[in-house]
Amino acid sequence: MSRKAPEKAYPALIDAHLEELRAIVGREFVLTDEDALHNHSHDYTEDLRFLPQVVVRPDTAEQVAAILRFCNRTGIPATPRGAGTGLSGGALPVLGGVVIAMDRFNRILSIDERNLQATVEPGVINQVFQDAVMEKGLFYPPDPASRGSCFLGGNLAECAGGPKAVKYGVTKDYVLNCQVVLPSGEIIWTGANVLKNSTGYNLTQLLIGSEGTLGIITRIVFRLVPLPKENLLMLVPFRSAEKACEAVSAIFRTGITPSALEFMERDCIEYVMRFVDVKVPLKDDINAHLLIEVDGNDRDVLFKECERISEVLYEFECDEILFADTTQQKADLWKARRSAGEAVKSHSIYKEEDTVVPRAELPRLLKGVKAIGAKYGFRSVCYGHAGDGNLHVNIIKEEMSDEAWQREVPKGIREIFELCVSLGGTISGEHGIGYVQKQYMDIPFDPVQLELMKGIKRLFDPNGILNPGKIFPDA
Ligand code: LAC
Ligand code: ZN
Repeated sequence: MSRKAPEKAYPALIDAHLEELRAIVGREFVLTDEDALHNHSHDYTEDLRFLPQVVVRPDTAEQVAAILRFCNRTGIPATPRGAGTGLSGGALPVLGGVVIAMDRFNRILSIDERNLQATVEPGVINQVFQDAVMEKGLFYPPDPASRGSCFLGGNLAECAGGPKAVKYGVTKDYVLNCQVVLPSGEIIWTGANVLKNSTGYNLTQLLIGSEGTLGIITRIVFRLVPLPKENLLMLVPFRSAEKACEAVSAIFRTGITPSALEFMERDCIEYVMRFVDVKVPLKDDINAHLLIEVDGNDRDVLFKECERISEVLYEFECDEILFADTTQQKADLWKARRSAGEAVKSHSIYKEEDTVVPRAELPRLLKGVKAIGAKYGFRSVCYGHAGDGNLHVNIIKEEMSDEAWQREVPKGIREIFELCVSLGGTISGEHGIGYVQKQYMDIPFDPVQLELMKGIKRLFDPNGILNPGKIFPDA
């Protein structure tokens, strides 16, 4: 679906504006050709497209500051963009204007082995950073499915998670400090390069997960942890998807924290096997799998942990457990899991919901999602980070009429989100609210909470020029 940006409430971008932007970043880094505008009109969110009027590619914080001062003076909106792998539309220029592409900020500035810290620019690809620290025996755990292409800056903007979050935490747990350009054009550091900090309000954590609406991150200081040397991976088939979900919280009650505990429904695995070249054993009567990894430095301990976990799994009527024996088998299973989102997308038009509940409520969430789907006439494919209670509910259109898709599905999503909140959860665990979930923000928050958040937005961005049209229902 291709859309032009809605009628602009700001002055049209004229040649004099383009000249001003060229003077800031250099002629070759101001793009107005059709291909560039189209390439920056979408991210990974559904099939949404909004054309910007111009794309600029700065490579210093001072250039970003000058662009934002320009936007503030003219009222032309700016939308920051990382790799464009987001799933809630955070990088969509919904009001047109300027896209600020951060791809030239791609340097790892230092890896400090004395302090287990690293300083990077936000356009570094997650996997490139993981590999660089791994070479030094260090570990940066947050690993979203798109880690091969997503940028660290986008990971901060959305507070990305991934499979390792269950043991190691999400992006916010690794950021000590960041340099941010405010909408006013001022450049600040949010904190200090320390592991403990009770000095004033926590601006670092306020910026993380703010989806590019409060400032543009230009430098990040991460903490790192030692790299665990060993891991074991098992694939656990279940006839009942609900039983698989019930097993999840029981595993943690043994005192063992797996380094990943993922859930995949049968359909998800079938779509994956059609989409990428991996084979996952799948008997006819199997309806869901758990993918469980434990890591550490002592193989014997890990084998004992797997034995203990297996005992629990058999109590929940799992089928025969498959242990991944080789590096190749492990890589294949992870490839299958990481391809899930794209495999579902290749199957049908879909909407992805990022539900999250306390983990012991997962069986009730799954059951509720299916019942709500039946009520409103849609099918869903579910997979995700079961150990975190974070279930990606992919609602698939398949043969549904356009009318039913537009009329019934939002009602169903609202009910699913109400269920999440009633179970003690919320409406996004790691994808953010962005553009596509903002109409549901009245479910987790009342007007008092929303006003507090909007007040923060106004304080940072009084003229509303930075990433407008995001997070708030009336934005
Ligand atoms: C995943 C992405 C969609 O977990 O968050 O595959
Ligand atoms: Zn995920």
